[in-house]
Amino acid sequence: MTTQDYVHGYSGREKERLLDQAHTLNDLLHHDTIYPRGSQVLEAGCGVGAQTIILAQHSPQTHFTSIDISPLSLQVARTRASQHSISNVDFQVADIFNLPFETNRFDHIFVCFVLEHLRQPVEALMRLRQVLKPGGTITVIEGDHASAYFHPDSPFAQRLIDCLVEIQASKGGNALIGRQVHPLLLRAGYKNITVTPRQVYADSSRPEWVEGFTKNTFTAMVAGVKEQAIQMGLVDLKTWERGIADLYATAGEEGTFSYTFFKGIAVK
Ligand SMILES: C[S@@+](CC[C@H](N)C(=O)[O-])C[C@H]1O[C@@H](n2cnc3c(N)ncnc32)[C@H](O)[C@@H]1O
Repeated sequence: MTTQDYVHGYSGREKERLLDQAHTLNDLLHHDTIYPRGSQVLEAGCGVGAQTIILAQHSPQTHFTSIDISPLSLQVARTRASQHSISNVDFQVADIFNLPFETNRFDHIFVCFVLEHLRQPVEALMRLRQVLKPGGTITVIEGDHASAYFHPDSPFAQRLIDCLVEIQASKGGNALIGRQVHPLLLRAGYKNITVTPRQVYADSSRPEWVEGFTKNTFTAMVAGVKEQAIQMGLVDLKTWERGIADLYATAGEEGTFSYTFFKGIAVK
């Protein structure tokens, strides 16, 4: 993937969305990711460091090498890490498909919301496997947009989610990849694979989820592809506006929203 292919782009709003997302989902996705003292962990596709900060804080005695193909995102990640006084992370520009590390270099690997953007996710997992020590683990976290259901239901909101899936597919990605975490790891040669679904559920009794997930993560992610969806002729402006209004309605007093992430852990 080139940086132009990245469906969500690298804008300031997208940066904030990734940070909101990481904050809200922290416990749900990462409470069980703690690495042993002294281990070497590769975080592949760290972006602006949204997960990096959480990982580094959860495992302060672990050394992280966090790579991304985008120098701009890494610059933001470095600044954020120093603002949080994180000293156990080295950031490096690198391509997952051309890793600048020797074979068996890392004890563990962590990949979050990256495979969904790649044309060749199995090859990516195989490349990562090469730099993982025998017996080391890989952790893969992905969403699946077909797992989104909500109240009040709306064909307009559903159409917008479908647009996001179609745009991502047109760039070679797969927004429905969560359900494939197990088979992808299997095909890439990993063993002892376990995948656990992590369900987000938001209603007005859980305002932090309504704000952090329904509005600032999911609806913001859909809203971010407005221009692309209209330019590509996938939807007209009227349907778009109705769809966004209906997504916001799911964050209202009587609204509910559910979404499932998939977290896979496997061994080399
Ligand atoms: C959705 S972002 C996720 C960032 C971060 N993992 C997070 O969860 O906030 C996907 C990231 O993968 C990076 N990426 C895509 N293809 C890559 C490649 N071939 N090598 C390294 N990074 C890549 C993109 O630049 C982007 O920063």
